[in-house]
Amino acid sequence: MSEKRKKPVLLSGIQPTGELMIGNYIGALRNWVALQDQYDSLFVLVDLHALTVRQNPPDLLRRCREFLCLYLACGVDPDRNTIFVQSHVPGHSQLLWILNCLTPMGELKRMTQFKEKSCSHRTNINMGLFDYPVLMAADILLYGTGLVPVGDDQKQHLELARNLAERFNARFGDIFTVPEPYIPVTGARIMSLQDPTSKMSKSDNNHLNYIALLDSPDLIRQKLRRAVTDAGNRIRYDAARPGISNLLNLFSVITDTPVDLVEQAYDGKGYGEFKNDLTEVLAGFLGPIQGRYAEFMAEPPYIEKILREGAAAARARSEMMLEKIHDAMGLIPFIRGKNPG
Ligand code: TYM
Repeated sequence: MSEKRKKPVLLSGIQPTGELMIGNYIGALRNWVALQDQYDSLFVLVDLHALTVRQNPPDLLRRCREFLCLYLACGVDPDRNTIFVQSHVPGHSQLLWILNCLTPMGELKRMTQFKEKSCSHRTNINMGLFDYPVLMAADILLYGTGLVPVGDDQKQHLELARNLAERFNARFGDIFTVPEPYIPVTGARIMSLQDPTSKMSKSDNNHLNYIALLDSPDLIRQKLRRAVTDAGNRIRYDAARPGISNLLNLFSVITDTPVDLVEQAYDGKGYGEFKNDLTEVLAGFLGPIQGRYAEFMAEPPYIEKILREGAAAARARSEMMLEKIHDAMGLIPFIRGKNPG
């Protein structure tokens, strides 16, 4: 067994919807990069999940490429990890079916994200939207994943994946690893700039609500200038003042400085100065990512090579797992090799 395969397995994914933004970086991508050495890591572009809301095919294709280049630009290393596209590995949909047969509909009806999306996509409440968390469980369980780095909003989905693993194991034997979420202590839920009581979202129709990873310094300045802050003018973290607390969190995570030290540095200073400095911090942080992104976007053959190799590695691993699953459930094993004659 290679050194790589002896490490515990980590898997995470992002849907190619909207624009990849700072909340996705802080809640997920940053931790993918921080953990990639310690784990046997798989990073998935979960394009099938994106189909649960209406997509325009040329836009989806462009976005898929952009997201993959942003994974790399943020520091996800294709030489040390498996990077692949969900739709390139049929095992995800195959395991989805099996897990569907173990999932009571009542458990899915309780899912917060389903309830929210049913409201925001009233004319398209499709089966995929309902089944979304089971496909996510399939992504995770298919590789024996032990750790799943995600933001706070995915906690409930992770809980379902854990329940399904335990339910399957209790009925059919010890096949699945029960996955643990890895949710960062700071930045697990970056809030919207215009409405700091709701989560920052990459598919928000109002672009002023988020800082995209590809935003120019000017756009960042405009967005932060218009970001909602609370009454008063003190730069202090306070749950009752979600606007300034959210900006403090952003400052703290990106500069890797504890919130109380940021507060001290801005003691006696106003929102204007703080927002200007946060603009500099974010623009300075995103500039190099945008530079690397442009380089990767200019190298389609390199991206294709990563995806070809990633899909081959993920397929091989998923097929081995599916064989074990089928075997445990009493399905006739798939017979390999050529037919005689
Ligand atoms: P998605 O595409 O909505 O979000 C990608 C990741 O970003 C995190 N995130 C946030 N973190 C902090 N603050 C925010 N405001 C914020 N918004 C989003 C999300 O928690 C997520 O980690 N269902 C998943 C994709 C998925 C997946 C998987 C993840 C599919 N299969 C298997 C892990 C393992 C999702 O919708 O992510």
